[in-house]
Amino acid sequence: MTDNASDKPAANGQGQAMWGGRFSAKPAELMQAINVSIGFDKRLWAQDLAGSRAHARMLISQGVIAREDGEEILKGLDAVEGEIVAGAFPFRDEYEDIHMNIEARLRELIGPTAGRLHTARSRNDQVAVDFRLWVREACERSAGQLEALQRALVAQAEAYADALMPGFTHLQPAQPVTFGHHLMAYVEMFGRDAGRFRDARARMNECPLGAAALAGSPFPIDRHQTAASLGFDRPTANSLDSVSARDFALEALSAASITATHLSRLAEEIVLWTTPMFGFIKLTDAFTTGSSIMPQKKNPDAAELIRAKVGRILGSLTTLTVVMKGLPLAYSKDMQEDKVPTFEAFDALELSLLAMAGMVSDLTPNTERMAAAAGAGFSTATDLADWLVRELNMPFRDAHHVTGSAVKAAEGKGVDLAELALADLQAIEPRITSEIYTVLTPAASAASRMSYGGTAPAQVRAQIARWKELLG
Ligand code: ARG
Repeated sequence: MTDNASDKPAANGQGQAMWGGRFSAKPAELMQAINVSIGFDKRLWAQDLAGSRAHARMLISQGVIAREDGEEILKGLDAVEGEIVAGAFPFRDEYEDIHMNIEARLRELIGPTAGRLHTARSRNDQVAVDFRLWVREACERSAGQLEALQRALVAQAEAYADALMPGFTHLQPAQPVTFGHHLMAYVEMFGRDAGRFRDARARMNECPLGAAALAGSPFPIDRHQTAASLGFDRPTANSLDSVSARDFALEALSAASITATHLSRLAEEIVLWTTPMFGFIKLTDAFTTGSSIMPQKKNPDAAELIRAKVGRILGSLTTLTVVMKGLPLAYSKDMQEDKVPTFEAFDALELSLLAMAGMVSDLTPNTERMAAAAGAGFSTATDLADWLVRELNMPFRDAHHVTGSAVKAAEGKGVDLAELALADLQAIEPRITSEIYTVLTPAASAASRMSYGGTAPAQVRAQIARWKELLG
């Protein structure tokens, strides 16, 4: 916007205004500037061609257009594709969007027969099918990239299924877990995320083509044929809904937002773990940068950027939700604003997924440091309490109290629980025996958590095996 953007148009009765700047004075130019979408919807070229081919073939087989005309159109579309692939296609603002750009070029290439392609079709159902195809592919790609990320996590989890680390609650050391177990938590999250993309895909897989402008078509079209040839399960069942619906994109963006939220949590942990204070993992130079002023620094920029991308992705969901809110049926031009946020969100998500998979494969844990930290902070206190319950039949609340006293004693002496003398423990609870030491090490603690889904290496390995099977 220019400085005088808020100035009122000059009252010269011609609609000539003093908007200035790059929008000169002609309302027609402003109209084009706000209306044109080719700059971003050219990304739909492949989907637009697929939709047009399916439509043209159906028009031929239904006898709506003559076979020779249809074949000329199909050949022309091949030529258009060739130009686009070769980077020789003239994308022109004057033709507004991808649909009219392709049609205009088709007319230049094959002449007036091109005009028959738009029989029984409108840009409203055309854009609806193009965008659905694009979002469907984005969901498939995201699910595939999630699976690749899961494979990277499973491989690291398998290598470190026994590596001890502190498990946290409130980011305070809580109980020992294994690094493999921690990574497998993300495998579960990303598995649900991939499932959400698959669910969204299944729900959106109905073809709006043939709804035409909004009311359907008087021509004897076969919507089942076009639906099947574009890989849809069936045609959409209401023509108004067909051209008005964008909830498939909202659903995909919401799956993307949840995925991005999960990515941000793993990214944050990588940021924490790579600090010298944690020192749990190392990344190579492949996923870090140096500082221009502080030579000692190795910054986890990729993780930080992944952590931040959720802003853009969730922002896109918000944008499209607000665009769609309150729109009357059927198509309104507002809906042209569906593409930029959706493209942006999936660009950000796909880059994040690829970078995260790369980073996960790249990281090396410092197992000694993690194991040492796993024993710090009296992390086996619960194990002590559980032993009192099991062996002395003590109510858990009393055991909790006794354990608190043992922690206090250890803290006073500056030692770990496992380093407290038996006499010290017996001074608190005389029935304690030397058996207690078998549960006070982090390794024993982790190994004892054999409940289904627990952190015992045997359990972790069982889940790893299950995921390896699922991920193929
Ligand atoms: N470029 C438009 C969009 O993205 C295509 C549909 C235009 N339809 C119309 N009736 N003006 O929404």
